[in-house]
Amino acid sequence: MTSSWNDRFSPRMAHVRASEIRELLKLLDQPDILSFAGGIPDPALFPIARIAELYGEVLAEAGDQALQYSVSEGLPALRRWIAERMTAQGAPCDEGNIIITAGSQQALDLIGKLFIGRGDAVLVERPTYMGALGAFNAYEPSYADLGGDVPAGARLAYVVPDFANPSGRTMPRREREALLARATAHDLVVIEDGAYRDLRFTGTDEPSILALDVARSGGIEAARTLYCGTFSKTLSPALRLGWVCGPRAVIDKLVLLKQGCDLHVSTINQMVAARVVAEGYEDHLERLRKHYHARASAMQAALARHMPLGVSWSKPQGGMFVWLTLPEGLDGAQLLEAALAEERVAFVPGGPFFAVDPEPNTLRLAYSLLSPADIDEGVRRLGRLIEGRLAYAGSNVARAATGRA
Ligand SMILES: Cc1ncc(COP(=O)(O)O)c(C=O)c1O
Repeated sequence: MTSSWNDRFSPRMAHVRASEIRELLKLLDQPDILSFAGGIPDPALFPIARIAELYGEVLAEAGDQALQYSVSEGLPALRRWIAERMTAQGAPCDEGNIIITAGSQQALDLIGKLFIGRGDAVLVERPTYMGALGAFNAYEPSYADLGGDVPAGARLAYVVPDFANPSGRTMPRREREALLARATAHDLVVIEDGAYRDLRFTGTDEPSILALDVARSGGIEAARTLYCGTFSKTLSPALRLGWVCGPRAVIDKLVLLKQGCDLHVSTINQMVAARVVAEGYEDHLERLRKHYHARASAMQAALARHMPLGVSWSKPQGGMFVWLTLPEGLDGAQLLEAALAEERVAFVPGGPFFAVDPEPNTLRLAYSLLSPADIDEGVRRLGRLIEGRLAYAGSNVARAATGRA
């Protein structure tokens, strides 16, 4: 039966596959597992009490409007607030430059639908956010390394320039400028995924690529960058509230696509979010940054303490992720199986974060959900496992060298 369904699916479904890793990670909610797998916000930081009050207030004040259909581009009040913030951060714009999307994940899907034709090349980082690949895959692109030559037929460059998922890396300003120069030379649209941008806990802000683009091109209408933002990492992912900021000509098309997709984001959720952000969002962000900074510091200390020689890792200035590189020959996916079975610790192997030519000796550790004490214990277990694997590999090499079985 399954095979006849497969025959009926459109050819694009050949590119849409379940991630084995995601399937495996579904099994991870046993309480004794210390999990560095889920890159999700700490629920302790959700402003639950205030959000509960605001649903009451919104229903009392806006009444049936809160429960009614609303415009596809999103609530004017929320779009205006976002436009003012983007303006304050160096990309002057107004609400006509903003569409509210169901998380930034929907923004990636709509952008894929708008720009990617079958076989068009999309330039991505190595590694990149696997959810972006998941969104783009349905439009049947080919992928090329952002660091390599730009192939003929390249249309888009997708980047996560601040504290990237999964690498934790931040693109320095000169790299952002170089990317814009290349994008201009090859007429590429730049998709800037700013999912973690508000979560910088050390160092100084880099200008967004959109801000650099606006400065360079003379205004947002002349820019080639589409900035994707989200409230998922700062307020709550369940609100499903993200946005795209870009030239009106693009926003207008995205609005048409959104109409065809799901009409609009939940009216009441947008009303609540517009009120939450209007009252002390920056203070709220400060609290988040302190919280994640403590965890990131615990993670760095634990890695330095427990990882054997030959393992290296990134040192993020914000966000939720550290990227670990194991000595050649070790495989993140195999290590995960052993980590679950032997050490009751979980992470995401790095392979699926590569659009092409995966580097199997890599993995992603998220530090957003565990306490500093659990971070130390989890990294201790992981370090012990890797050390054991290295010793085993080393003894095999030694045995091979001496010709002993
Ligand atoms: C880099 C990046 N972009 C986009 C998303 C999608 O988030 P949301 O749709 O909740 O805004 C995520 C979520 O993990 C992410 O890490």
